[in-house]
Amino acid sequence: MNILIEWLGILGRWAHVLFAITWIGTSFYFNWLDLSERKPKAPTLKPNVEGEVHEMHGGSFYYHERFWPTGDNPRTLAHSGPAQFTFLTGLFLVAYFYWRGPSVYLIPPGSALTVVEAVILSGLALLLPWLIYHQTCKRVQSDTAVLCAMAVVVTVASFVLTRVFNPPAAFVHVGAMLGTIMAANVQYVIIPNHIRMRRQVQAGQEVDLTFHKLAKRRSQHNNYMTLPVLFGMLSAHFPLATSSELSWAILVLVMAALFTLRHYRNVQLRTDRKPRALLGLAGALLACGIGLSFVPRTAAVEDRSALSAADARIHDIVQTRCAVCHATTPSFDGFTVAPNGVHLETMAEIEVRKDQIMTLAIASDLMPPGNLTEMTDAERRELADWLAARGAVTLDLE
Ligand code: HEC
Repeated sequence: MNILIEWLGILGRWAHVLFAITWIGTSFYFNWLDLSERKPKAPTLKPNVEGEVHEMHGGSFYYHERFWPTGDNPRTLAHSGPAQFTFLTGLFLVAYFYWRGPSVYLIPPGSALTVVEAVILSGLALLLPWLIYHQTCKRVQSDTAVLCAMAVVVTVASFVLTRVFNPPAAFVHVGAMLGTIMAANVQYVIIPNHIRMRRQVQAGQEVDLTFHKLAKRRSQHNNYMTLPVLFGMLSAHFPLATSSELSWAILVLVMAALFTLRHYRNVQLRTDRKPRALLGLAGALLACGIGLSFVPRTAAVEDRSALSAADARIHDIVQTRCAVCHATTPSFDGFTVAPNGVHLETMAEIEVRKDQIMTLAIASDLMPPGNLTEMTDAERRELADWLAARGAVTLDLE
């Protein structure tokens, strides 16, 4: 059964990435099409042509016209399925990794949050930003004002979530809240307006451009959110960024840099000029984010003189066999930051992870990996007794 559940996670991730690249690929393509089109110079196939594009791909020539339909038109296809499937598979993954086992991935050991509170907070983190964004868009016409509101939302969410959740989970949540906004834009604004426009065309009426403008605005917002979302989603692979004490600021700065990079590209496509100032700004924001990861992390130091002989012995074992990697500044070759953000430098840090240590170093020999630090069986037994005396239990690893 556990093996089948594991496969569900594997297939869920695969499907999520597949739907996401299909959705974003199409969305990037149409954004490129819109910005690359130019006014036609010669007679066009359709009436009311706003712009045309000639392109080549995969050994073929293509010709597109963007037009406002009049009268009878062949069936018009829409692109929407992948957005909803990306959201649904994403929600499945949040539930699978964070809501099903929140004590492992979502909240750090020793967290004041109960499992139920953590799950509610996780759900709110996905839902609330959409409500704020949607209401702001409905009330405010200026996109700059919407951007400012969202910058505040992202900053507050990054700050709060990196404090209550494991930092990698916090990064994924900030990415997922923007992803939720994108999918909700498709579902609740873009598609309904497409349907309205299609009905008008079918009824032989002129298309009401207000519907076009509503859909176009949200589609543009989605385009700008894409690069930041990707950064949030992949953060489980960036321990350098997530383990910093300033991880929230790194997340905000990198997201701002990627947003600016997207703007640079869009302006470039629309005008055929390279707005170097925007590229410079994106570079500067990224450099600030990278710079913050150089800020030395303050290591918690154990006051060994206050330890009992038994505790000092355990501290010794863990420092030589584990903390060479699991430290603020690891000494083991090839490690720049504590793996998975797990620090084992003080007795408090060790005690808070007692169940994980019992599971990985006693019930199994997963840690130290490949027994690289040559932990002896006698040391494992000593550690096991100490952990058992503190009520440590073996976790279900699945
Ligand atoms: C050579 C470096 C190294 C040493 C030594 C080492 N670890 Fe790890 N540890 C890692 C790496 C790498 C990971 C991340 C593994 C992964 O995500 O698959 C990890 C992950 C962990 C985790 C987190 C698991 C999770 O699911 O997040 C714990 C807890 C842990 N180690 C405990 C220990 C203990 C206890 C020791 C000593 C008995 C130890 N480690 C020694 C490299 C090391």
